Amino acid sequence: MSFVLVEKSDRIAWITLNRPEKLNALNNDVLKELEQVFADLEHDAEVGVVVVTGAGEKAFVAGADISELKSLDSASARVQALRGQAVFQRIEAMPKPVIAAVNGFALGGGCELALACHIRIASENARFGLPEVSLGIIPGYGGTQRLPRLVGKGVALDMILSGEMTPAADALRMGLVSRVVPQAELKAAAEKLAKTVLSRGPLALRSALAAVHEGLEMPQEQGLQYEAALFGLLAATQDMQEGMGAFLEKRTAQFKGL
Ligand code: COA
Repeated sequence: MSFVLVEKSDRIAWITLNRPEKLNALNNDVLKELEQVFADLEHDAEVGVVVVTGAGEKAFVAGADISELKSLDSASARVQALRGQAVFQRIEAMPKPVIAAVNGFALGGGCELALACHIRIASENARFGLPEVSLGIIPGYGGTQRLPRLVGKGVALDMILSGEMTPAADALRMGLVSRVVPQAELKAAAEKLAKTVLSRGPLALRSALAAVHEGLEMPQEQGLQYEAALFGLLAATQDMQEGMGAFLEKRTAQFKGL
């Protein structure tokens, strides 16, 4: 059985974490498959946007698999954290937009997976949390680093130290997600957003992702230089000519990624 389903349609790759009987918990097999799927999609010219979601109505991903974590010792736990981090790092570094369509519990590694995606939209029943301290551990797949960068240190520490779950409406208010929709509309909303993104210049999308991600790791002055360099490179593309030409000619742009 495959734990990670991939379905491609209209340049969108739909990735479904598929272990519903365990609320899509991330065991090592799931992590391995997830990494391979993203490695393949990165170079798949037929795919422009990736959407990640969970199988079933209840969970996006309820965390790393606790039954696997329990047997770790000090050395193997560190390796495990690095392993999970590497998979999520690959997702965050994808040169094409990755949307998390969070359809239920996004806890622990599930919340961290959503944090590694570029855009998060959630169904009204979604609940976010980093409950690791209740297990005597801390988030190990990037949560202590990505959450404070996204929502600020105070709110992140509230979530990390309390281990409490945050409902979708509160996640929206704090900027943890950018859109919330009724559960029955999540897929359609994710598809609409994916199609909107797909209609934009692909080289511009790639550069925007690089500018934001890499720029955030730099002092602002250096980030501004980087932004200007990417802006300059885009001016040499056919896509820019097409985008601006289409605007001036009052027609829809047909980008080629050139
Ligand atoms: N790892 C391993 N198994 C998990 C899991 C996880 N992170 N999360 C859920 N499961 C399993 C349960 O053990 C249960 O398996 P079983 O039917 O064989 O007993 C199954 O998924 C369904 O979960 P259950 O707890 O019965 O559902 P619930 O609706 O009562 O509760 C949650 C849902 C999400 C509140 C609860 O499953 C939970 O707290 N999960 C752990 C969350 C967590 O701590 N994640 C961080 C891990 S580092």
